[in-house]
Amino acid sequence: MKFLVINGVNLNLTGKREKGVYGTETLEEINAGLAAFCKAHGHEVEFYQSNVEGELCSRLHAAEGKYDGIVLNAGAFTHYSIALRDAIAAITVPVVETHMSNVQAREEFRKKSVLTEVCRGEVLGFGKASYYLALESFWL
Ligand code: DQA
Repeated sequence: MKFLVINGVNLNLTGKREKGVYGTETLEEINAGLAAFCKAHGHEVEFYQSNVEGELCSRLHAAEGKYDGIVLNAGAFTHYSIALRDAIAAITVPVVETHMSNVQAREEFRKKSVLTEVCRGEVLGFGKASYYLALESFWL
C-alpha cells in the first residue's frame, strides 16, 4: 500500500516548540521512523508539510487516486479550517485525523475539530505513536 503523511501549520517546529507537549524529536526524525516502519511492513510512504492552508488543500487534491490512505495532522487548522474539511470531503482517499497531544484534555478551543466528520477515524494523544497507529489502521 502507499500512504501520504501530511503535517500542517507549525508542525515543522516539532522537537523545538512546546517540548513537554510534542516531545523532543524533530519532524524529520519522526518521519524517518515512519518511513522505516512502513518499509518493514512492505508499504510505501511519502511526506508533506506546509504552514499554508491552501497548499495543504492543493496537496490533498493532488493525492486523489494516488494513495491508499492519508494520515493528516493539520495542527491548529483542525479547529477551524472549513477549506481543509471540504478538501478532505472532495477526495475519495481515506484520511485519518491525527494529533500527538490529547486535544480533548487541553484548552476548550482544541476540543472541536471541523475535520473529524469527514475523516475515516481519529488518533490522538499518543505522541509520535499517533502517526504509527494511524498508519497501521490502514492495514490491520
Ligand atoms: C496538534 C494539536 C493542535 O491543537 C495544535 O494546534 C497543533 C498540534 C497535535 O498534534 O497535538 O499544532 O495537532
